[in-house]
Amino acid sequence: MDQISQQDQAPVDVVIMAAGKGTRMKSRLPKVLHRLAGRALLAHVTDTAARLGARHVVVVTGHGAAEVEAAMHGRPLQFARQEPQLGTGHAVQQAMPLLPDDGVVLVLSGDVPLIAEDTLRALIAAGAGERLALLTIEVDDPTGYGRIVRAEAEGGAVTAIVEQKDATDAQRAIREVYSGMMAVPAARLKGWLGRLDNRNAQGEYYLTDVVKLAAADGVPVVAHVTDDALQVAGINSPAQLAGLERAWQLRQAEALMAQGVRLADPARFDLRGTLACEADVEIDVNCVFEGAVFLGEGVRIGANCVIANARIEAGAVIHPFTHIDGEKAGVTVGEKALVGPFARLRPGAQLGAEVHIGNFVEVKNSTLADGAKANHLAYLGDATVGRRVNYGAGSITANYDGANKHRTVIEDDVHVGSNCVLVAPVTIGAGGTIGGGSTVNKSTEPGALTVARSKPVSYPNWQRPQKKK
Ligand code: UD1
Ligand code: CA
Repeated sequence: MDQISQQDQAPVDVVIMAAGKGTRMKSRLPKVLHRLAGRALLAHVTDTAARLGARHVVVVTGHGAAEVEAAMHGRPLQFARQEPQLGTGHAVQQAMPLLPDDGVVLVLSGDVPLIAEDTLRALIAAGAGERLALLTIEVDDPTGYGRIVRAEAEGGAVTAIVEQKDATDAQRAIREVYSGMMAVPAARLKGWLGRLDNRNAQGEYYLTDVVKLAAADGVPVVAHVTDDALQVAGINSPAQLAGLERAWQLRQAEALMAQGVRLADPARFDLRGTLACEADVEIDVNCVFEGAVFLGEGVRIGANCVIANARIEAGAVIHPFTHIDGEKAGVTVGEKALVGPFARLRPGAQLGAEVHIGNFVEVKNSTLADGAKANHLAYLGDATVGRRVNYGAGSITANYDGANKHRTVIEDDVHVGSNCVLVAPVTIGAGGTIGGGSTVNKSTEPGALTVARSKPVSYPNWQRPQKKK
């Protein structure tokens, strides 16, 4: 049934206004490219539009247009330039030539990032393909917003939106305000936009004046009232951006806790992507998660970790101050592995079960089989490390010859002493031992002890030079 009724509805086309200057950000970066939860404000809105299944998504650009358009490259969007910026009505007008007449136009703002898909679906449903539907909210302090003016008569139909600067004292007392978002039949909107004027306090073409025109044309105007202030919060200043970031992070933290995730402090938690957790996950304070992260059952994350694009299997423990970033290749931490404190896992690090990676150890594009250990001050790059290998403090794989990268293979049960350099390409045979301080540039036999350093030389009773008098 749902599917059929969806098909019966008019197609939805989205216009996102993003041409404004954002003066109060006091930034060279266009306002809509500032980031919330790791994503550009505008990207939040375009991603939500995509999830709605919009037919066309047109972004109206102006200030910093080239930069905004470049930042959105690769997304299925169209752009309409608005030069100069003569108001929100003028902004939407620039997009209309790109849109067919048979759809419903959903107007959104590039600086209102947290509007949710279900709220927009409810707004579109309220318009029913033929009415003008406004998303409104009641606020304690309506200063600065367009006020929703309703008829005295029973039912209180919406008759106008009056902007702060044009409002009478009585109108300024109205606490129901326009969120900046509306759903409106395209053909109607095109007609109304052509009739807008700029005879108002700001000398702008107000999109909000379409309400009066709808009322005059006998088109019903409906308000869909939301009670979620976060969803309609706009960003105008760094303080507002930080405030919305914290509020959003708290909401994400609460959602995770509701699933059973134990956060030491929801006020000190940041998710800039997606975090999927199984049962009994514990996360200490000041951790940041980016991209797609999975934490298996019973995983514990210590304080001050940054974890991006990684899969951490059940029972693993990430100790404090560890940095993990899988980027595109990803990072996997096996079951019951121990990582950190102060460890760094880079793209392509794949740790098996019960692997130990200790402080100041860096692992890149390397596979460590079950039970392998590198506990202190070491580098493993482009390496294949066997089971139960012990990799000594200060040892490194010299994987780069200045032109090309090469692989190091360390077979099962090898013991690499401290401060060794394994010059790739090289294979250390299974069960072999490398003496501390060795530089090994050719492969070794299984079971062999390899020592590649000069013998100690001692001079008995050595007299140190004396300082001249
Ligand atoms: C607008 C509404 C107001 C509503 C408020 C909600 C109008 C006239 N007023 O006011 O009723 O309560 O939003 O936040 O619409 N923009 C352009 N081109 C322009 C002007 C603006 O693209 O010429 C964009 C801005 O970049 C911004 C959005 O439109 O993304 C809203 O513009 P803004 O100036 O913030 O409108 P408000 O005065 O806040
Ligand atoms: Ca605004």
